[in-house]
Amino acid sequence: MHIRLGILLGAIALVGLSACATSVSGPSASAELQARSGSSVSGRVSLVETSGGLRVEAQVAGLSPGEHGFHVHEVGDCSAPDASSAKGHFNPAGKAHGHHASSERHGGDMPNLVANAAGEARFSGVVSGLTLSGPNGVVGRSVVIHADPDDYKSQPAGNSGKRVACGVILAR
Ligand code: CU
Ligand code: ZN
Repeated sequence: MHIRLGILLGAIALVGLSACATSVSGPSASAELQARSGSSVSGRVSLVETSGGLRVEAQVAGLSPGEHGFHVHEVGDCSAPDASSAKGHFNPAGKAHGHHASSERHGGDMPNLVANAAGEARFSGVVSGLTLSGPNGVVGRSVVIHADPDDYKSQPAGNSGKRVACGVILAR
């Protein structure tokens, strides 16, 4: 009897600890990037919920130097060789494509990634209007990186060209 109670209390203490650890950093998710459209892009995107939106951190290699469109797409399916299975930009508010700092934008519109001469890009920023779950939630959707820069105005997707990487966003 006493031993079983001890085990039960131990389990409660463990649950308490992990809940505490989660609340410090906020709920998070991540996406492993898969190369698409014949590219050799690799990398990882992590997403953490904050009060101002989603903190998005990306570390990517194998890009061509320069700017690359970077978005959350609607569907968490990267299976097509050209990532067309990820469908269009995540657009929960039914708005036009636009600049990430504008109010007229898709929820999934993010700043271009900028790759250095070695083809590596790092990004860290808070994207407003996105969450992990709920109507603006990105878990179960995808992140996509494009061959060309997003011009932040062409419809419906900023004329950013082929999809060179895609990763399904999974809670962790
Ligand atoms: Cu895109
Ligand atoms: Zn868009």
